[in-house]
Amino acid sequence: MQNQLKDGTMNDPVAVTGGAGFAGRYLVNLLAAENRCVHVLDRSPAPVEEPVDARITFHRTDLNEPSGLADLLARINPVEIYHLAGIANVKNSWDGEAHTYVVNVIGEVNLLSALRSTGLKADVLVVSSGEVYGQVPEELQPIRETRPPDPRSPYAASKVCQEIIARQYARQIKGRIIVVRPFNHIGPGQHPSFVTSDFARQISMAERGMIEPVLKVGNLSAYRDFTDVRDMVRGYVMAMRSGQPGQVYNICSGTTYQIRHILNLLLEISSTDIEIVIEPEKFRPADIPILCGSSEQFRRLTGWKPGMRIEETLGEILNDWRNRIDC
Ligand code: GDD
Repeated sequence: MQNQLKDGTMNDPVAVTGGAGFAGRYLVNLLAAENRCVHVLDRSPAPVEEPVDARITFHRTDLNEPSGLADLLARINPVEIYHLAGIANVKNSWDGEAHTYVVNVIGEVNLLSALRSTGLKADVLVVSSGEVYGQVPEELQPIRETRPPDPRSPYAASKVCQEIIARQYARQIKGRIIVVRPFNHIGPGQHPSFVTSDFARQISMAERGMIEPVLKVGNLSAYRDFTDVRDMVRGYVMAMRSGQPGQVYNICSGTTYQIRHILNLLLEISSTDIEIVIEPEKFRPADIPILCGSSEQFRRLTGWKPGMRIEETLGEILNDWRNRIDC
């Protein structure tokens, strides 16, 4: 079964927790395009605006309410489980610290213990984050997986906990568990609490005269390593199929951009003159100054490399907001 899976030729069911979320939706569509039978486990309802695809089944599921979870998994009988559900926003994790741990940590425990109780042999991909590295001296970047985690936010700490839980359950479930550390991933459809979507939304609203031509921003001096979400989810599938159990893989571009530069790229695409205003509320209690990852290990293993240029992705994000606002 494993060999057939690696070839991607089987039609076995796969489950995606958080499959109605930003990256989740792209992943679900990618798997469905491979003719996989995709089961979405998400506490949000199925997106109604999207056409119904017979290969995709939604199960309204909250991993923090685990009764019935094992039965559901037994009915789905997945060969792969992509675990994306959880809190993804670093800034919000400061506002609800305990909630971040409950959702990210207990949610994963509930998923993996339910899987263990079914006795199914399903491989699991746990999606951690490049945020786990914390503040790494510039001369030690791009950051490799050998760098010990040093979390600086409740979100990052919850991701380290997720990795530790994955290690523990790796000895208890029948399938493999692979952990990935994606760095920033962006694209059309991302929630506007993330930087590129936040800027693009404000720009598109200013273009249409819906708000004053004033763009409210936070810490523009930070540097981040951005990858298009479509490249990222392609990496998740490759990691699931080729990843070594117990290994952790960075997935990232290896190029870092200052947020100020990202803002300027977006403003260049727009025709409107916009004033920039720094908003103190948009700053975090702690913000990592530079994050740049090395995905060398992952590229060597899988041949993965990002395909989309950042300018292309930013253009699509802005157009997506323009279209949404026009609707
Ligand atoms: N959201 C936001 N809004 N961020 C801003 C703004 C603003 O107006 N202005 C500056 N920033 C800065 C933030 O302070 C941060 O340094 C950077 O832009 C990126 O912020 P986010 O887009 O919120 O992402 P993140 O880097 O905190 O976390 C993302 O990447 C992680 C992996 O590196 C998220 O996608 C996480 O889920 C992911 O794990």
